[in-house]
Amino acid sequence: MKTATLEEITNLCIRRGFFFPSGKIYGGLSGFYDYGPLGVELRNEILNSWWNFFVRNREDIVGIHGSILTHPKTWEASGHTESFIDIIVKCTRCSSEFRADHLLEDKGIKITELTIENLRNLIKKHNIKCPICKGELSDPEPFNLMFQTYVGPKKTKANIAYLRPETAQLIFTNFKNIYISMRLKLPFGVAQIGKAFRNEISPRNFLFRVREFEQMEIEYFVNPHKLNDCPLFNEVKDTKINLLTAKLQENSVEKTIEITIEDAYEKGLITTKWHAYWIGKSIEWMLKIGLDATKIRVREHMKNELAHYAIQTFDIEYYFPDMGWKEIEGISNRGDYDLSRHQKFSGKDLTILDNDKKVIPYVIEPSFGLERIILALLTSSYREIDNRKVLSLKPFIAPIKAGVYPLIKKPEFIEKAREVYYLLREKINVFYDESGSIGKRYARADEIGVPLGITIDGETLENNTVTVRFRDTKQQIRIKLDNLWEDIKKILEE
Ligand code: GAP
Repeated sequence: MKTATLEEITNLCIRRGFFFPSGKIYGGLSGFYDYGPLGVELRNEILNSWWNFFVRNREDIVGIHGSILTHPKTWEASGHTESFIDIIVKCTRCSSEFRADHLLEDKGIKITELTIENLRNLIKKHNIKCPICKGELSDPEPFNLMFQTYVGPKKTKANIAYLRPETAQLIFTNFKNIYISMRLKLPFGVAQIGKAFRNEISPRNFLFRVREFEQMEIEYFVNPHKLNDCPLFNEVKDTKINLLTAKLQENSVEKTIEITIEDAYEKGLITTKWHAYWIGKSIEWMLKIGLDATKIRVREHMKNELAHYAIQTFDIEYYFPDMGWKEIEGISNRGDYDLSRHQKFSGKDLTILDNDKKVIPYVIEPSFGLERIILALLTSSYREIDNRKVLSLKPFIAPIKAGVYPLIKKPEFIEKAREVYYLLREKINVFYDESGSIGKRYARADEIGVPLGITIDGETLENNTVTVRFRDTKQQIRIKLDNLWEDIKKILEE
């Protein structure tokens, strides 16, 4: 069995209609991809699964859907105006721009501290030049990643607004409204799915680093004195994780330790129980949608990489072809940083009552990126089995659930196949295909992950049965047309 490279996945996605580079007919817009017909179906299935798992099937989490263009004070309060920066260097000859840390990492140089001073010294020490024209590089300088625009016709400072760089802040600015309107009690969470925008200096690796992407975030609010009072802990305590602590990394150890969530908490490696719980639940959902457990690790942020708001952060990383271990979700303990700052900047009281005592809750934040989850799913599901290209997505995630095929192009076969197609399309996303040999039709469907093939053949006309072919095994069974939907439903749910 052969697995795919990142380039093969990119080609598949563009060729078969999962994603298209945005604005390609005009030369493309770097860091933007449009979802194609299959991509949008895959997106919807993943988002539905996430929402059901983290919101609908829980009593303690509600959802919101906030604005994309946001009040500039939001970002002053959150610290993004001041601190949401990457460090940029420009080529003095060809004017290309690069993220300074990426240039160094690409040369295999380890960065201990992400400061301008340190990056300047490393660039000098290793005599780093422009990778495009070998020109001299400028002095490193900070670059704010937020996209800025104006609200209304006047382009004045007073009209500046930002495209949100994270969905989280809309939850914090609406915190009191949500708490009061939904009559919530601590601990509780607020979830949101929505677009985020970052003017990345060097977007790359297909969907991995883009400028417009979708986040799926939860802000889980807990009384600061009850961070270890987690009645749901039993759900996750035995989950085994591969953990790379900050301490191991500081000692240049890259090898993870295998440990249960409970032991990681008991040994103080994950400092609060609610944080440990959310790491466990995140992994549970990732496995549910079909990510490969052996490619998941939990990496703690070292002190020098912690975001300005974070007390402790763990990244869930996935092992990607060509890229190695990369973050697909961040889970931070943000303390009361955000609510306290919004309280200060707005002058509004954001305290709430817990057992008659006023508190500003702490927040544990699981923050998933949809595009990275999709890339992880595609890279680990696409494989060659006996010269067949197969995208082995779980049936409930697959963009199309079944293909309907008349074995031969004769009117009586076509008529029956169309009947089956109309029957099923009311229930699931299904397509009809009559062109080419049946082998070619199966192969086209296998490549885009269609779990089932339903073929109308001579026997169908005699005894009202069809063959159902399974994508991964090529196994075929016969099913009575009278029971078709009930049987297919069962198979898809397995
Ligand atoms: N609210 C916290 C937050 O935004 P983050 O680690 O900056 O934290 C969370 O982002 C997730 O968003 C990441 O784990 C990643 O999946 C996704 N993400 C961030 N930047 C991205 C980018 N440029 N392209 C694609 N996904 C991105």
